[in-house]
Amino acid sequence: MAGLLASAITLVGCDTGDQAHSADSASVEENTEAKVESFDITVWPELQPALAVDAALEARIDDLLSRMTLEEKVGQMIQAEIKYVTPEDVKNYHLGSVLNGGGTYPNNDKFATPQDWLALSEAFFAASMDTADGGTAIPIIWGSDAVHGHNNIVGATLYPHNIGLGAARDPELIRRIGEATAREVAVTGVDWTFAPTVAVVRDDRWGRTYESYSEDPEIVKAYAEEMVKGLQGEKGQEDFLRGKNLVATAKHFVGDGGTVRGIDRGDNIVPEKELAEVHAAGYLSALPAGVQTVMASFNSWNGDRLHGHKYLLTDVLKERLGFDGFVVGDWNGHRFVPGCTVDSCAAAINAGLDMFMVPSDWKKLYENTLAQAKSGEIGAERLEDAVRRILRVKIRAGLFERNRPLAGKDGILGNDAHRALAREAVRKSLVLLKNNDNLLPLKPSQNILVAGDGAHNLSKQSGGWTISWQGTGNTREDFPGATTIFEGIESAVSAAGGKAVLNENGEIDGEKPDVAIVVFGEEPYAEWHGDIASIEYQLGHKKDLALLKKLREQGIPVVSVFLSGRPLWVNKELNASDAFVAAWLPGSEGAGIADVLFTDADGQVQHDFTGTLPFSWPEYVHQSVLNPYHEGYEPLFALGYGLAAGEESLVSNSLTEDGETYAAGALEDAWLMVSRPRAPWGLVIQDSGEPVAVTGNRASSGEDENIVVASIDMESQEDARQFEFKGLRPGKVRLGAEKPQDLSRYVNEGAALSFDVRVDRKPELPVSALIECGEECVADLPLQSELAKLEPGSWAKMSIDLQCFVERGADFSSVSSAVAFASEGPLQLSVANVKYVPDAANADSIRCEG
Ligand code: BGC
Ligand code: BGC
Repeated sequence: MAGLLASAITLVGCDTGDQAHSADSASVEENTEAKVESFDITVWPELQPALAVDAALEARIDDLLSRMTLEEKVGQMIQAEIKYVTPEDVKNYHLGSVLNGGGTYPNNDKFATPQDWLALSEAFFAASMDTADGGTAIPIIWGSDAVHGHNNIVGATLYPHNIGLGAARDPELIRRIGEATAREVAVTGVDWTFAPTVAVVRDDRWGRTYESYSEDPEIVKAYAEEMVKGLQGEKGQEDFLRGKNLVATAKHFVGDGGTVRGIDRGDNIVPEKELAEVHAAGYLSALPAGVQTVMASFNSWNGDRLHGHKYLLTDVLKERLGFDGFVVGDWNGHRFVPGCTVDSCAAAINAGLDMFMVPSDWKKLYENTLAQAKSGEIGAERLEDAVRRILRVKIRAGLFERNRPLAGKDGILGNDAHRALAREAVRKSLVLLKNNDNLLPLKPSQNILVAGDGAHNLSKQSGGWTISWQGTGNTREDFPGATTIFEGIESAVSAAGGKAVLNENGEIDGEKPDVAIVVFGEEPYAEWHGDIASIEYQLGHKKDLALLKKLREQGIPVVSVFLSGRPLWVNKELNASDAFVAAWLPGSEGAGIADVLFTDADGQVQHDFTGTLPFSWPEYVHQSVLNPYHEGYEPLFALGYGLAAGEESLVSNSLTEDGETYAAGALEDAWLMVSRPRAPWGLVIQDSGEPVAVTGNRASSGEDENIVVASIDMESQEDARQFEFKGLRPGKVRLGAEKPQDLSRYVNEGAALSFDVRVDRKPELPVSALIECGEECVADLPLQSELAKLEPGSWAKMSIDLQCFVERGADFSSVSSAVAFASEGPLQLSVANVKYVPDAANADSIRCEG
């Protein structure tokens, strides 16, 4: 068997390894030299600082600085996560800040009450002001991602995600949402929100597209200003940044929305002018509005990481754009800077970062930063400047006085007024894409079937950054006070004497309905887990389409309500719908949808459709980068499109249906498992018993725990999977699809199966990689000797020519397992970044002799 492998097998070292890393850094450094010459600061407007220099305030800072030890100063530059830090630590290390990450709560309790949040905040504050052992009292600042309401706390009002707000084209609404959000946050004793995101998105495959207001920089600019004013209050007013108001963050500086292929934390390769005019648009209004903090971005610009970008952080942001607040890092984002690790990164501070966001490993980073400050690797002046900026914001925000009129107050979190505001925002966010025969608005006195798995599903309508980080794992009880879309429909309809019946699968029991409303769309996701390889909706399994068709075939008019964090290719679903509403991710107030879908009992429009597209809508599956600023702009629905009820428009029922991802356009990498399995592929444990589908990130196992699949970290949280085979009997783990997929183009275009691999326990018995193509069709490639060559515990890259599997009988026109790993004996194998990569079969790949 082994003889079938060609001799020229090379396992290329994983580029996340140290060696590759230092090679990278060298070339990055060389490049920087060259690039400095080419920067052009004049493409950036020259802005005055938002607030005039306040001599008394600066004198107060001088006084504090003169009394602070170097240890205290370094402590101010550290932000740790509440799971990993205690008030005692805050006191001992003089930490400047804490944050709660997505899905972290006081006492690890999802149902922590506002009082619990406040109590923890009081404890941190008291610790920061405790000078019993000497030292200088500096109040701590607590930051949280209140990005669509105070979304980490159960019971808060959840507003539509930014993309939906972008559809409303209503800056004044944004201001009110900012104000209301600030009030809910203030109740819990949190001082600072990591919002707004002012990304201007270019490639809709980016998993954070919904955090962006629009692909149009002008909209982002208008909204950023109002959101900052809503959250912080107006500069010049007495309660600016204090009382009912918070400290806001403009993030992520800069160019996060423009990475190649929409890859989170990727590289934005654009000329400086475009960076300034498109990607920085939000900063150009947020800064003059007085935003006090800016978060550095994970991404790179032309190959250089923002966390280490002196030109952008210092020369541009702080000098040219007049920013006198502080720059906070993103979650361990400094570790991407050449030469840095999570624990040590003088380069980021030297480049202009003022505060590290270092959730768990803060102690080591603190110690290293202190040592670098002592040795002079971090200059004294830079360090003073960083601390000065942090103190300036803390003083401006009144943290020393702890002025908190709303802390612990009842009747604010999730109150009726806020929910009414969110409901208004939902109404304004709806974009009517298709309304043939003027089906909408509907009369509520009818007999209405409500179908689709989004109809009565608060998780789905709320999306990511909702109670948990990815918005997954939530149930009804996590949303007290919220209303599903169905509940909204039901109350509108029953009040008018009609009847609304919920049946997710669209089964009709009894009388045929007059009309069906089908609510469907994307499952919740957040940063980087939400990146997709294709904008095709339900790639490989068109379940919702089948539901729409089934209803249509019975002569029932169909209204589709589509929940999504971005435009997707839905031509088939559009063809199968009479009316189609893009509803984005509306949040907790699902009733806003019925407000617009239905007339009042007398047939009068109550609230017309006013939303217009904040993002262009694609006609073809390859149009993931689509906006009026690029050449060849041919969308299905242009930026700004949106029908009003009664408006004459006939969208064809025969939009092109060719162009499925695997068949159309230029062939791109097929993602099988990139941080998680990618639709239509899912992980399945196949042992002696029933197959076990691995869902989410929790560990799963088959019978007798003979095979266990767990999520582990390679570069980032849970971006790899570990397969443990106990070896009680042979078994396998497969990346399978429910319906066989036609991947023959990959074979025709010289693709390789490529993945990162780590062996933690070497195989003693045969192991193979398989491609399965239906019941009786399996191509089996022995892998034991390849795996045995790897250094245990180290990541490596492996690439296998797909042709190899063809020779061994694979039929790529009908692939049911894009890859499976089978082991006869004990083995511990971890894999990540599993893809088919066109044109990648080369001398470095594992190939087979003919
Ligand atoms: C995100 C930020 C967020 C931070 C804290 C990061 O991973 O990129 O947007 O503010 O985590 O949760
Ligand atoms: C945290 C998020 C954070 C992310 C970044 C998660 O574990 O909860 O807040 O943004 O990690 O990696």
